[in-house]
Amino acid sequence: MQTTNSYSLEKDIESVLISEQQIREMTDRLAADISKAYQSTIEEGRKLVLLTILKGSVLFSAELVKKITIPAELEFMKVSSYGAGTKTSGEIRIHLDLLRDDLPNLDILVIEDIVDSGRTLFRLTQMLRNRGAHSVKTVTMLDKPSRREVQFVPDFCGFQIPDKFVVGYGLDYNEEYRTLPFVGVLKPEIYAPKQTP
Ligand code: PRP
Repeated sequence: MQTTNSYSLEKDIESVLISEQQIREMTDRLAADISKAYQSTIEEGRKLVLLTILKGSVLFSAELVKKITIPAELEFMKVSSYGAGTKTSGEIRIHLDLLRDDLPNLDILVIEDIVDSGRTLFRLTQMLRNRGAHSVKTVTMLDKPSRREVQFVPDFCGFQIPDKFVVGYGLDYNEEYRTLPFVGVLKPEIYAPKQTP
């Protein structure tokens, strides 16, 4: 039987785009690729830092990091980009920063839930490189390439998706739906209610 909470969230979902099972399989694949790609980090005496970007990436990150088979440290940042609607890459606002004094010894893998315009990761990766990290790469659960406004390609990607309004598995609409265990398409009447004449 469904709980009231689950029912009240799921009734707003038009369709399931990516199921919990698909997310499990996708994180198996990504974790294997990542573990292989960062073998040299450990062999060469550096540290792998898995940098989760709050809040949307938390569910994806939790599923992914436990499957990575090489030693790694966990860090968190909260950032947002602004400057949308312009031709520039915009700026980034840091709400919670990464405070490390050993950046030259770190290979940082930024973990994101979604790449949309690309502004957030474009600016964040540039900033971490400028601060002196040994390397900065990115993994995203979802990528919407059709929405790109700056040139940015994630190093590891779970699924490329069409330009649909998706929520769940960390993704929100007005802070709701993050706790759904799948990625679903939100019914249009939720985010674009019909105007009454
Ligand atoms: C979302 C998402 C990415 C960013 C992607 O974060 O988690 O960080 O937007 O968009 P972009 O490619 O257009 O920059 P949001 O600012 O909504 O914060 P949240 O993770 O707390 O929901």
